[in-house]
Amino acid sequence: MAQPSQPTVPELYERIQQAVLAIRQATDLRPAIGLILGSGLSALADDMATSATLPYSTIPFFPHSTVEGHRGELVLGHLDGCPVVVMRGRFHFYEGYTLEQTTFPVRVMQALGAHTLIVTNAAGGLRPDWRVGDLMRIVDHINLPGMAGHHPLRGPNDPRLGPRFPAMTDAYDAELGALAHALAAEIGLRMHDGVYAFLAGPSFETPAELRLLQHLGADAVGMSTVPEVIVARHGGMRVLGLSMISNIATPDAPPANHEEVLAAGEAIKPQFTALIKRLLRRLSATTPG
Ligand code: HPA
Repeated sequence: MAQPSQPTVPELYERIQQAVLAIRQATDLRPAIGLILGSGLSALADDMATSATLPYSTIPFFPHSTVEGHRGELVLGHLDGCPVVVMRGRFHFYEGYTLEQTTFPVRVMQALGAHTLIVTNAAGGLRPDWRVGDLMRIVDHINLPGMAGHHPLRGPNDPRLGPRFPAMTDAYDAELGALAHALAAEIGLRMHDGVYAFLAGPSFETPAELRLLQHLGADAVGMSTVPEVIVARHGGMRVLGLSMISNIATPDAPPANHEEVLAAGEAIKPQFTALIKRLLRRLSATTPG
């Protein structure tokens, strides 16, 4: 008996090319910088001179965003004169996607021309002296699901996309980080350096888990970012990671909730927007593209 024919999914490289082709039909803008806007931080895209706004559902092989506070669209345009591609809303492992799916847009951003990725998130602060609304420049990460076998680069490696065994010792660009610190000081934003621990979620952590994370040397905890950064580094992009401390996640703190995470983003919106704009202005003055 004849087997029913399976719809064939093209390999990753082909899927990236098809997504790029569809986006280029909407705009010929060549972005230099990719921006991923985390929970509560999407408003930044409102200030863009937009060339194209593409709902994720219209881009081949993009997943769809399902979380409140995460708009699902890719926006291309200029922000303070810098050509950017912005993910307004991202994909999370806890939504049920594979890590390859959650990181697919990063591949597409790079294939569109972005050489630098600025990735933002809301995170729980593990340090008792930190305050809601502080920023943390990510200097390093702990990929806990990765240590348990959930890794975005698991599976065959396509050398056109990057090496089989990419280094992660220098995942977060020191020069970009120093620039972010200098600009945050100009604006009066409190910015710390710290280690981001990635957990799968979607439940928030128990007090015992928070104690464990503190012992591991983590300064903030969240449910995103690390897979995206790994994929960006696999492809050779420069990365700046910024966490907005949306709640204090120490073992004796009150329980975290999604509403306070979104509210914290709303509260620092003006300064956060100012910081990113200054960063972009500086980057477009100093880098080609
Ligand atoms: N834990 C995990 N993820 C988070 C938190 C938290 O406290 N806050 C924002 N994202």
